[in-house]
Amino acid sequence: MAEKESRLILVKQDGSTLPEMKLSQSLELISHSPEQTQRLGIHIGELALAGDIFLLVGGLGTGKTCLTQGIAWGLNIKEYTLSPSFVIIRELYGRLPLYHIDLYRLDHIEEVIELGLDNYLYGNGVCVVEWAEKGLSVLPTEHLLIQISFLDDTERSFHLKPSGKRYLEILAQLKHLSFNSQERVNC
Ligand SMILES: Nc1ncnc2c1ncn2[C@@H]1O[C@H](COP(=O)(O)OP(=O)(O)O)[C@@H](O)[C@H]1O
Ligand SMILES: [Mg+2]
Repeated sequence: MAEKESRLILVKQDGSTLPEMKLSQSLELISHSPEQTQRLGIHIGELALAGDIFLLVGGLGTGKTCLTQGIAWGLNIKEYTLSPSFVIIRELYGRLPLYHIDLYRLDHIEEVIELGLDNYLYGNGVCVVEWAEKGLSVLPTEHLLIQISFLDDTERSFHLKPSGKRYLEILAQLKHLSFNSQERVNC
């Protein structure tokens, strides 16, 4: 698919009239193509450290798996393939392990608890959780929440909301990258 734009565009920083501290607390980006979404994922994957938790929220087809694919590439995972939808947890190995958890098929919080995710969530890899809204009450309170919204066929908005110091730090790094990342990676 051809890209309309060659970079991610920062469209809004929450509360632009608020003091500096507030400015750093969330970030909204518009992606114009799957490739841009993958590129955002690559940035996240490159910045990720062991123990990081990325919670993805957004309806079917908004781009959660597309973003995860980029995160995998950013972690230097070579053999990323799109998973069949019945796979709930995948372990992939690159610079760090990536635990890709997809709660789509689960309907009750008890089912999420039964998965016994603690070894993943508090392990030595990076966790990406699709359909995180289904497990929010039992997932770590410190995380980067990424809310994806469908704008049109090829446009999606990504609203990044950090909880905790580590994720404010990631946000600050992503802001820097999103201004300076023209054509750095071709997906
Ligand atoms: N800007 C975009 N970002 C991500 N996906 C996009 C974008 N524009 C179109 N798409 C398409 O939307 C679909 C997203 O699929 P997927 O990542 O599997 O969604 P989800 O995991 O959220 O259900 C793919 O077919 C992709 O090609
Ligand atoms: Mg998906």
